Amino acid sequence: MAESKKPVVVGIEILKKNGLDVDSLIKELVINASVEFTAYYYFTLLRANCTGMDGEGIKGVIEDARLEDLSHFESCIERIYQLGGSLPKDATQFIKMSGCEFLQLPPNPTDLTAILEKCLKAEQGAIVNWDKICNMTLGKDPATYDIAKDILAEEIEHESWFLELLYSRPSGHMRRKYPGERPHTKKHSRALDSL
Ligand SMILES: [Fe+2]
Ligand SMILES: [Fe+2]
Repeated sequence: MAESKKPVVVGIEILKKNGLDVDSLIKELVINASVEFTAYYYFTLLRANCTGMDGEGIKGVIEDARLEDLSHFESCIERIYQLGGSLPKDATQFIKMSGCEFLQLPPNPTDLTAILEKCLKAEQGAIVNWDKICNMTLGKDPATYDIAKDILAEEIEHESWFLELLYSRPSGHMRRKYPGERPHTKKHSRALDSL
């Protein structure tokens, strides 16, 4: 195969014709992938520290959000490569891109309110991140928009769960049928289906 010849990628050319800044979109998608991946890790720690009788119920809610962050990471990957982008080869560089240090365990690691406040902050950040991609792609890149709006729908649900737990603001929340159900992003993260 001739490697030196750069192929014409019609799937990218149409986006440029539609007025999309493809390089900026790739940059934002890689950052968002890094946030989702890092949040998945930190939510693992936060969930593990939900102890005692009060912690037991919260553990289940954090688990639902945690597994959906993994789905959000998975949902980005294919599109990043289709657009001509790639993930950094240095994993530590990838984690640092996320700016998620605030999600580390609180000084008292089993302080449930502090844990929930961190979860809420993470979800609210994710909403801003995915809304940005929606705005960049609306009317220009239906494939990326479809992924971003489905992730955004799950982030909005996650925010409402943590608002309910912290402020007794009803979310209309029914628990997921099973952890990792990911009702909006399941079709974008099929690699997780075999788990
Ligand atoms: Fe997420
Ligand atoms: Fe989330």
